[in-house]
Amino acid sequence: MSRFWSEIVDKLTPYVPGEQPALARPVKLNTNENPYPPSPRVVEAIRRELGDNGDTLRKYPDPTARALRATIARHCGLKAEQVFMGNGSDEVLAHVFQALLKHDKPIRFPDITYSFYPVYAQLFGVAFEAVPLNADFGIDVDDYRAPNGGVLLPNPNAPTGRALPLVEIEILLAANPDSVVVIDEAYVDFGAESAVALIDKHPNLLVVQTLSKARSLAGMRVGFALGHEVLIEALTRVKDSFNSYPLDRLAQVAGIAAIEDDDWFRESCAKVIVSREHLTTQLHALGFEVVPSAANFVFTRHPAHDAATLAARLKQKEIFVRHFKLPRIEQHLRITVGNDCECNALIAALRALV
Ligand SMILES: Cc1ncc(COP(=O)(O)O)c(C=O)c1O
Repeated sequence: MSRFWSEIVDKLTPYVPGEQPALARPVKLNTNENPYPPSPRVVEAIRRELGDNGDTLRKYPDPTARALRATIARHCGLKAEQVFMGNGSDEVLAHVFQALLKHDKPIRFPDITYSFYPVYAQLFGVAFEAVPLNADFGIDVDDYRAPNGGVLLPNPNAPTGRALPLVEIEILLAANPDSVVVIDEAYVDFGAESAVALIDKHPNLLVVQTLSKARSLAGMRVGFALGHEVLIEALTRVKDSFNSYPLDRLAQVAGIAAIEDDDWFRESCAKVIVSREHLTTQLHALGFEVVPSAANFVFTRHPAHDAATLAARLKQKEIFVRHFKLPRIEQHLRITVGNDCECNALIAALRALV
């Protein structure tokens, strides 16, 4: 604590992202990045935008990211007014907390979920109730019927990787007509059903997506929200009271190129899904239990080996996986699906350890 700090700073427990090791060739399976590069069209678009001498960078970018929003809207069958852009979906979620989830009643999200949610709740003074997942880490939508200030679920959930079918999301929406239901679809393209198709029927639905995972653009920071114009307007009002230019010029053109190259996107997702199933089989063969995953990571435990010790031993071999020292999951590891070479290195190391 410093006498220069505002009161809230002292009380914050900030989010801790997965380690970005400064090593030449780490096997990095700890932050759910895509193991494959983005579409070559993304690189071309960035070069084109830069031109010969980067002159375009003198000028501010379009504060509304109009062209990118129009591209996303076309891709999703929505209107551009139903799309909100942010600097990564983390920033979009931060605005969602302020714009749509700060009411008298507490919001509800699962007890085991993306660990940024409680951090935003604390930062923005949003009361919340953490709703326990069931014994096999599933979400029971009936647990979200109590009066609330909003509902927030990742689908698939992180760090479990479990997905909810669309019919369950519809039940959730029907049970909460007076609250905003936010579905965080950071990992949806790896095997879950998107709720985007429900947007026109449900004015209380906001879907949040990102180009960080399936489109391999974590380094560009492009996230977005899709929903009824009224919800989007609330987010825009907060954005324009915080940072008018959240997406730089390169991120905007990169985003358009990434969305337009559907073939590249499909192929890259398909490769990750095949690797996920192969990795799951290999982990089972080593005696690990693996939660069924619809994401680009697996959530796993070994009944005879301490998870923190396994993570530490893997790190000694420059293999990074994620361990959360949290109730109910401290014996689990979250492992990002890497390329073949990375998955083989992981399995060889685990074989030696267990
Ligand atoms: C569930 C979930 N939502 C949102 C994000 C944020 O992604 P980004 O800010 O890169 O768009 C992550 C990142 O790992 C995540 O796991």
